[in-house]
Amino acid sequence: MHKLVKLIEAKRIAARVEELGREISDDFRGEQIALVTALKGGVFFVADLARRISVPVELDFVSAHSYEGDRSSGKIRLEKPPSLNLKGKKVVLIEDIIDTGRTCAFLRELIAKHEPDILKVCTLLDKPSRRLVTMALDYVGFTIDDQFVVGYGLDYMEKYRNLDDIYAIEQEGDAA
Ligand code: IMP
Ligand code: MG
Repeated sequence: MHKLVKLIEAKRIAARVEELGREISDDFRGEQIALVTALKGGVFFVADLARRISVPVELDFVSAHSYEGDRSSGKIRLEKPPSLNLKGKKVVLIEDIIDTGRTCAFLRELIAKHEPDILKVCTLLDKPSRRLVTMALDYVGFTIDDQFVVGYGLDYMEKYRNLDDIYAIEQEGDAA
């Protein structure tokens, strides 16, 4: 059994997403941007963020995962490349969470090969204590401790993505 402990309320998420939208709009004033979102965790975040951005946006989606049953090797498998032609575009890669950083580093490199004019990274959550691959993050919603979180797009074995708030998930019987 799992116990869900509320970590970030929907209201706080909305307020922070609004700030990030403003920041991105200011940084790209007078430009058009492509928001390239990592599936599936980033979809709720980008749906809200895109509506808080005042410059024209295009949406695209990418998908990459660690090899099944081989998480520790750090090998990543691409499931869905970008659909848009990103050459010369101002791209913001949208992530749900940066944990070890491997997925984001992989996606960043993948997009860079498409020769965008600018490539920035925006993540809703950052877990810096678990980082194995260092990278610059341009926009971070919340920095959290080393705990597994669900809700607002984030899953545990495909569950809990549709929760409004973000929760830390604890194994029942875990020391708090
Ligand atoms: P990384 O490659 O280790 O940075 O892993 C990133 C991916 O692992 C994220 O895009 C999530 O899908 C998943 N992930 C890492 N930490 C969490 C978490 O706390 N909750 C839900 N998913 C997570
Ligand atoms: Mg996941």
